[in-house]
Amino acid sequence: MRDFKHSTVYQIYIKSFCDSNGDGIGDLGGIRSRLPYLKSLGIDYIWVTPFFRSPMNDNGYDVADYYEVNPMFGTLEEAMDMIREAREMGIGFMFDMVFNHTSTEHAWFQKALRGDPEYMDYYIFRDGKDGQPPTNWESKFGGNAWEYVPSLGKWYLHLFDRTQADLNWDNPKVREEMKNVIRFWKDAGVCGFRFDVVNLISKPDIFEDDHEGDGRRFYTDGHHVHEYLQELVRDTGIAEMVTVGEMSSTSLENCIRYTMPERGELSMCFSFHHLKVDYAGGNKWALAEPDLKSLRNLFGTWQEEMMKAEGWNALFWCNHDQPRVVSRLGDDQLYWKRSAKMLAMFIHLMRGTPYIYQGEELGMTNAGFTDIGQYRDVESINYHRILREAGLSEEETLQVLGARSRDNGRTPMQWTPGENAGFSAGEPWIGVPENHTFINVESEEKDPDSILQFYRKLVALRKESDLIALGGIRFLETGNERVIAYERTMDGKILTVVCSFSKEREEISDPVLCERIRDGKLFLAADADTAAQYAEMNEKLVLAALDGIAVAR
Ligand code: NOJ
Repeated sequence: MRDFKHSTVYQIYIKSFCDSNGDGIGDLGGIRSRLPYLKSLGIDYIWVTPFFRSPMNDNGYDVADYYEVNPMFGTLEEAMDMIREAREMGIGFMFDMVFNHTSTEHAWFQKALRGDPEYMDYYIFRDGKDGQPPTNWESKFGGNAWEYVPSLGKWYLHLFDRTQADLNWDNPKVREEMKNVIRFWKDAGVCGFRFDVVNLISKPDIFEDDHEGDGRRFYTDGHHVHEYLQELVRDTGIAEMVTVGEMSSTSLENCIRYTMPERGELSMCFSFHHLKVDYAGGNKWALAEPDLKSLRNLFGTWQEEMMKAEGWNALFWCNHDQPRVVSRLGDDQLYWKRSAKMLAMFIHLMRGTPYIYQGEELGMTNAGFTDIGQYRDVESINYHRILREAGLSEEETLQVLGARSRDNGRTPMQWTPGENAGFSAGEPWIGVPENHTFINVESEEKDPDSILQFYRKLVALRKESDLIALGGIRFLETGNERVIAYERTMDGKILTVVCSFSKEREEISDPVLCERIRDGKLFLAADADTAAQYAEMNEKLVLAALDGIAVAR
């Protein structure tokens, strides 16, 4: 079994990571050229987002051929070289398997469109109701989740874009096709897989309208999902590899089942509840201040319950679908450096496997786009229209996109203070934030106190410390909703982590917590000044805005 408990994973969004041929688009050559940088971070695995043949309507999450490399990113030979070169450095690749749907350009869908019954059964085609779609379910990218095909007189299901048709996993032939894809990349030498929205693969037997929501309750963690995952893992022999499932709107009970080792499903899960605490009324497109009480309760419950059941969490704040956390829960101006470090230590000292999303280790911020013409993402462009139609002004709409668009996490990796942040010699496919002049690898390499160096330290700590990698976890009372604390324990050793999500200075007077902090030794602090304050601590612990501290006993 691969050790994923002492490990840290680095996520590469290929299109924005590094461009080796000057066409403005990141590519495999770019990744290969940056392997030494990744090695220097100390990370163990790289999850690279899909680079397979695709019309790129959803930047590669619309796969047209799982065995071919999109020429925009390189060749199959380069992919093989990349896997080998990384392995030689002790880094394993995790490839991204988009198995809930294919592009409508996939040969299977094209045959289905021509009315071939064998291939129509690879997808979910249904009759409409009086000229209307089969159900009222909504696509996650806006609009109804069914598309009509006049030549067939039928509708097909697409939970995402209409060019991403959902596969019919109840068809054993589809399951065999997916196993073959896994076998192919396993033989190529990858160390693991990330499975895209894999908890949506099992659809209900009967399709009915949802009068309470958008339809997700009928297909999320569907009735055969665990069985299908077990079959996939068993028949492809990947139980010993590192696997992570992306779980959309999942439940704790299901994530326990997905990751309990004896069930033979996955190593770990991504869940997203903690990234919805700033959605007003659960709506991504309505802004609200983060609900810190919920944040604390969500982490507390998931961490403690997963531990009790021997499940395993993937730990993360950022990915290519999320705004940058330093802009979201930290402060990307005054307290930029300290808040980025606080957020990093909060996640990296927990129980689970941390994921660093490219640029997070630099404290990269949201894009700062001010015009709809700067956005590229299909979801953002759809929602710009939807929000305007709903009556929001252009200014209000841009404010929402500025906080919520997936493009915030997709701007080019900032390598240097120079032109295009050193990402490309050509015009990048999406704009580069102005702050690349000081937020970039080159500058942060030179600064011993940089966010980059802090991440290196966190990655190394997890490798060295069984307490961090394997210890128990318990959330503590702080007597202050804006300050979240937890404790890791192992063999009589205790690590107490206290993080302030407040933009003000906060005092913590809870006597039990203060005693624990006072009696320990400073282990890590988000700010050099915190260390000095700690030394002077008497009755109360005082934390500066967005500061964090960890103390060992
Ligand atoms: C989740 C991926 O992370 C996201 O980028 C994509 O749009 C959807 N799944 C659909 O594949």
